[in-house]
Amino acid sequence: NIEEKVESLLKEMTLEEKIGQMTQFTSSGDVTGPTLRGNVEKEVKAGNVGSLFNAFKASYTRKLQKMAVEETRLGIPLLFGYDVIHGHRTLFPIPLGEASSFDLEAMEEAARIAAVEASAEGIHWTFAPMVDVSRDPRWGRVMEGAGEDTYYNNLVAKARVKGFQGDDLSKENTILACAKHFLAYGAPIAGRDYNTVDMSLQTLHEVYLPPFKATVDAGVETFMTSFNEINGVPSTANPYLFKDILRDQWGFDGMVVTDYTAINELVPHGTAKDLAHAGVQALKAGIDMDMEGAVFLETLKESVEKGDVTEEEINVAVRRILTLKHKLGLFEDPYRYSDEEREARVVLSKEHKQAARKIARKSIVLLKNDNQVLPLDLEKQTKIAAIGPLVKSKKDVLGAWKAKGSPKDAKSLFEGLKGATKGKAELLYAKGCDMKSDDKSGFVEAIEVANQSDVVVLAIGEPRTISGEAKSRTDITIPGVQTELLEALKATGKPIVVVLMNGRPLALEKEDELADAILETWHLGTMAGPAIADVIFGKYNPGGKLPMTFPRNVGQVPIYYNAKNTGRPFDPSQPSGYKSYYLDAPNSPLYPFGYGLSYTTFEYGEITLSSDKMTDEAITASIEVTNTGDYDGEEVVQMYIQDVIGKSTRPLKELKGFEKVFIKKGETKKITFTIEKEALTYFRWDMSEGVEAGDFNVYIGTNSDDVKSATFNLTKDYEASTNYNP
Ligand code: IFM
Repeated sequence: NIEEKVESLLKEMTLEEKIGQMTQFTSSGDVTGPTLRGNVEKEVKAGNVGSLFNAFKASYTRKLQKMAVEETRLGIPLLFGYDVIHGHRTLFPIPLGEASSFDLEAMEEAARIAAVEASAEGIHWTFAPMVDVSRDPRWGRVMEGAGEDTYYNNLVAKARVKGFQGDDLSKENTILACAKHFLAYGAPIAGRDYNTVDMSLQTLHEVYLPPFKATVDAGVETFMTSFNEINGVPSTANPYLFKDILRDQWGFDGMVVTDYTAINELVPHGTAKDLAHAGVQALKAGIDMDMEGAVFLETLKESVEKGDVTEEEINVAVRRILTLKHKLGLFEDPYRYSDEEREARVVLSKEHKQAARKIARKSIVLLKNDNQVLPLDLEKQTKIAAIGPLVKSKKDVLGAWKAKGSPKDAKSLFEGLKGATKGKAELLYAKGCDMKSDDKSGFVEAIEVANQSDVVVLAIGEPRTISGEAKSRTDITIPGVQTELLEALKATGKPIVVVLMNGRPLALEKEDELADAILETWHLGTMAGPAIADVIFGKYNPGGKLPMTFPRNVGQVPIYYNAKNTGRPFDPSQPSGYKSYYLDAPNSPLYPFGYGLSYTTFEYGEITLSSDKMTDEAITASIEVTNTGDYDGEEVVQMYIQDVIGKSTRPLKELKGFEKVFIKKGETKKITFTIEKEALTYFRWDMSEGVEAGDFNVYIGTNSDDVKSATFNLTKDYEASTNYNP
């Protein structure tokens, strides 16, 4: 049994060997901060390392593993980690894009395939999923999560953990998942990465904690700390987070790693006077492994000798690390993941690319489609102008955190259009401008090309390099002169289909005014081009919905659908002063959460409740949805609930259920949601959790703004059992 094996190994280990196990270094490339140890191979042989990250390829991980196994006293195998975020070599859409699919099975499958490819190259552990809720598109890392809603994040988090870890961790094609970044990393003040987080405990518990709890429920094996402080305490030194909540309340028994040099950063944060002090704070907070910072390695032995920490506290961390290595089967066969034959067979396989194309199509959101410009009809539109700096890009479609995905394996939009139009239509091309420069000299050629064509497909947006870690922006419009290019093309009078590629919600007021159709394609990964072409020519009817609100301008940020009413709500039909509103912009976003069109149309009936009273038993809410348009299509039917009067104020709407349904043209489907009283609880002023008797509005519709409504009454108070206990 694993426990006994771990205990007997622990007895043989010196204090230095134990601290070595708690140390992780980066191996090469892909670094996101200072590299503190140049020669990692020397460190491995010295027994100073329990885990490496950023090492890949079966041959290389095997070579490193051999050093640990054959050249250290106890031969303890290494654990190889890597940021396998949206695929390893076959890339899927960036996670925010993938979340637009509202297809949990597809997201699980994408994570599964990523694990299959990464594990064949010797990787045991991905630093994913990122389950940070975020309401601020200035923050560059929104691309890596599932958006602004907690309920939806919970479900996506579970699907991704299941995908990476599979049903059986000891299988050589499953890898450890890592829930990150604990906690509230997605809420830095002003959207600036790594910045301070200051928020109420109610919001922390209601909005930011649940997706992490969901990963624990799904069996996640590791957690990562966040760089930020929360209410004055840096996460990496916060025992309330890691001991009280994670371990004591949730029963998590896996391992916690820091984010990069987060222990070292306790010094500039101002809670630790030096690195030794920082190491003590982190260990006492419940941190097991030090990523890249070498603080444990350099200071913990002395801290034990001085009596600042005990060897037993170190044993606790080492036990967790060795247990994981056992669970992965590394003590039986340290090389089982580094498998050249499997690597050659599975990496970028035909099946993986097909899956990538399928989920890429599902992730596309149709934001506008005036006069049914889309889908294009190759019988009528025989000359197509493909214009824009992103049309031929194979790099940007990969998105941030591209792991080992390579542009040479990716398909650009141009290649996708070429494949779809071959022998049927003429494809003309002009770049028009660069993404960031203000040079407009390419406009002339672009206008000429547009003038010769029946329709313009204009690919504009963000390069992959301006979203991701440390990529915050204060201006969330499309950079450079790309929007001016759109303006110039509009003057030709040709219909314009804008294909957006970007890593965050953007402020698109001008584009919305100028374009005839807009497809939000995010950064879609290896099969971006064919997937977009499938949608443009109607081979696939888009059904994606926005998992994050798109503001009109950056001044509205943070803007999210589940806001509160305030004491002075603004009524746009009665504009007057001294209400909660802006002088220079509406309160409403450009596109709300859950928004997305289809080539067909869906009509919603009225809501039927199984009962308008709820006591202990759940009730149901049903609605009929009819496909009234000309195409078969998928619709994400969304249910929101509002607690009308509470002891504490409640949001105007909260997503509590959704179903993605395929409805044939002319067909009607009845969708039924179950509502349980447990789903209605919230944290009050005194941090008790429960819900009071009273009226609740149920909303069902096509997005958070366009809904039908009904009301039920909860007949008695309900107290949840998991009360907060500081
Ligand atoms: O996993 C990441 C983390 O999300 C941000 N900092 C670097 C880590 C390792 O690359």
